[in-house]
Amino acid sequence: MASSAFHRLVLVASGVCAVTMVTGQGMLYPRSSESRVVNTLDGMWSFRMDDSPSRDQGFTDQWWTKPLKQTGDVIPMAVPSSYNDVTADRAVRDFVGWAWYETDFFVSSDWQDRVVSLRFGSVHYYAMVWVNGQEAVRHNGGHLPFEGVINDMVNWTSSNRLTVAVNNTLTPLTLPPGSIEWQKDTSRYPDGYFVQNLQMDFFNYAGIHRHVQIYTKPRINIDDIIIVTDIQGDNGIVNYNVTLAGNGDQSVSVKINVLDADGAVVASSSRLSDQVVIVNVTLWWPWTMTTGTPAYMYTLQVMAGDDVYREPFGVRTVGVTSQGFLINSKPFYCHGVDKHEDSDIRGKGLDYPLIARDFYMLKWLGVNCFRSSHYPYAEEILDQADRQGIVVINECPGVGIRENNMGPENVAHHKEVMWEFVRRDKNRPAVVMWSTANEPRSDVPKAELYFGEVINYTRSLDPSRLVTFISNKDYNTDRAVKFVDVICFNRYYGWYKDTGHTEVIKLQLATDIKNWRKTHPTKPLLMSEYGAGTVAGLHQEPSYVFTEDYQVELMSEYHKVFDTYRAQYFTGELVWNFADFITAEGVTRVVGNKKGVLTRQRQPKASAHLLRDRYHAMFDSKYVPSNRYRYRYPKREEL
Ligand SMILES: *[C@@H]1O[C@H](CO)[C@@H](O)[C@H](O)[C@H]1NC(C)=O
Ligand SMILES: *[C@@H]1O[C@H](CO)[C@@H](O)[C@H](O)[C@H]1NC(C)=O
Ligand SMILES: *[C@@H]1O[C@H](CO)[C@@H](O)[C@H](O)[C@H]1NC(C)=O
Ligand SMILES: *[C@@H]1O[C@H](CO)[C@@H](O)[C@H](O)[C@H]1NC(C)=O
Ligand SMILES: *[C@@H]1O[C@H](CO)[C@@H](O)[C@H](O)[C@H]1NC(C)=O
Repeated sequence: MASSAFHRLVLVASGVCAVTMVTGQGMLYPRSSESRVVNTLDGMWSFRMDDSPSRDQGFTDQWWTKPLKQTGDVIPMAVPSSYNDVTADRAVRDFVGWAWYETDFFVSSDWQDRVVSLRFGSVHYYAMVWVNGQEAVRHNGGHLPFEGVINDMVNWTSSNRLTVAVNNTLTPLTLPPGSIEWQKDTSRYPDGYFVQNLQMDFFNYAGIHRHVQIYTKPRINIDDIIIVTDIQGDNGIVNYNVTLAGNGDQSVSVKINVLDADGAVVASSSRLSDQVVIVNVTLWWPWTMTTGTPAYMYTLQVMAGDDVYREPFGVRTVGVTSQGFLINSKPFYCHGVDKHEDSDIRGKGLDYPLIARDFYMLKWLGVNCFRSSHYPYAEEILDQADRQGIVVINECPGVGIRENNMGPENVAHHKEVMWEFVRRDKNRPAVVMWSTANEPRSDVPKAELYFGEVINYTRSLDPSRLVTFISNKDYNTDRAVKFVDVICFNRYYGWYKDTGHTEVIKLQLATDIKNWRKTHPTKPLLMSEYGAGTVAGLHQEPSYVFTEDYQVELMSEYHKVFDTYRAQYFTGELVWNFADFITAEGVTRVVGNKKGVLTRQRQPKASAHLLRDRYHAMFDSKYVPSNRYRYRYPKREEL
């Protein structure tokens, strides 16, 4: 990471470092250590919506200045969770505007000489936070962490009131963008009637989605750590930069250790910024069925003054040629899925049993790679990708960007989101590529400037990884793929077009792939979406759209084409989608999007067995397919 955006003034000496400290700008995950305490504020909070006509009652009456229950009726609400599906009330599920949360907490009186931070893993979309009626922090954006220092607001001898206002409104300037449509025809709609229009095909779940934590660190503390690795022969090269935060010019003692997975010191330094060597390194590799647990993780143990912080990392490199991805200089074929953070009741709320189940099912399927479609996932999910060796195409919330969302203010916000995203995930070995958008209007002239700027900026933040966006435009109309490292394209042959006609898929997809190659001969190709809507339990012979049989038949046709180009420049396949998920209500969606190979409850449809046989065989040429569902996928030409 050569970015000046992440580098702050650090004067380096040996052993004892004279440092000009600055206000913290890092966003390290809150980890307890000898010098740090982490407390969770997760639990049942009080909740109410501001359903006043202009949704601004809470601001005119200053709800943050008193207990929320004094402003009106409150109900219990789980944190973390989306508030939408927790109650049985349509008004809560479909609410648009400011929703208010409140809880109480104590701080230990012996924290007075430390920095006390209040951190939110994510709040969707716009958040304002008050402690005892004083504003602590606000954040614009639904999927990334933010924090504020609350020392000056807390009461050390009594309970503290924490108030959070959350606005889920999507506008042409948010990411993802949306719009509010006012219905003015009073013969058809009540006065002041409005709806939220979405430009994406998933439900706009809202609320406090991830952990809320209070944590302490010393007054002079480790603010950020950047680690970039390389490989030389049998050795791992670890380049790192540590930034400290605090007041004034100080001298602090510094000790840095690289620990292996058993905690043994394998390299060390006494400089805040250095290059150290791990002799006989164990590399981080994506998992395969035949090689145990290859996702080897080291730890950078940083001791600076009174502070101690341990950042996990893996030693690996990422590269690209005209033929495909490289991980540790070896070709990597991505066989995986697109996902969503979606489940019954909790919506997009963080949930450990669900994370565990998803990773068991990813491995059951033989997935070695997923895309975080269409927003940054929880840090706790990425932790599992790092530790279980599943490669991640890390996607920002730039989904559904239209021409009217390509102005200078949009570019500025998009860059801000990429900055926060890279800041959060820069040390994760599983992340190999940043996706800056999904299915934007990349065929309009404005897209050239917009994506030129966003993609170049992202590359400047992180030259150690690849950058792309996901296109659904044609090879001869797309104006932005020329900036990407890997062309990622979404196609629905036999579904949205030529519905029911799997017999044309092979020809259409092959033509498509050859055309991309002809126009962009130096860029490898990855199919980032293909799939068919499938209601679990529906069967028909011959197949019919929405049956499990049709999904299997359609996917099989795509697979034939993938296999033709797999040995060449075709570098990966992601099926849409890992599991069924909820969308806005609409006549083309049957209680949500049903393109999952798993149900929303994470149970397999027939297509999951097809995919499992295919992906497992890719890991292991001796793998014997279960043939469990073989009878369900006759070839069209055999019928
Ligand atoms: C650390 O900072 C130095 C000085 O700005 C820079 O040259 C180097 O590339 C940085 N290293 C990493 C790993 O970010
Ligand atoms: C909050 O919600 C209201 C009502 O939907 C909307 O008009 C306003 O723009 C939103 N404000 C912010 C900062 O998101
Ligand atoms: C803390 O709370 C106590 C008890 O309510 C109150 O007497 C005191 O004034 C508060 N201190 C501050 C600094 O607000
Ligand atoms: C590295 O491996 C070589 C060859 O196996 C061995 O001789 C050497 O002792 C190892 N060095 C370390 C530091 O583990
Ligand atoms: C982005 O980088 C490419 C390649 O270096 C360059 O051609 C293009 O002009 C840049 N675009 C912008 C908007 O900076």
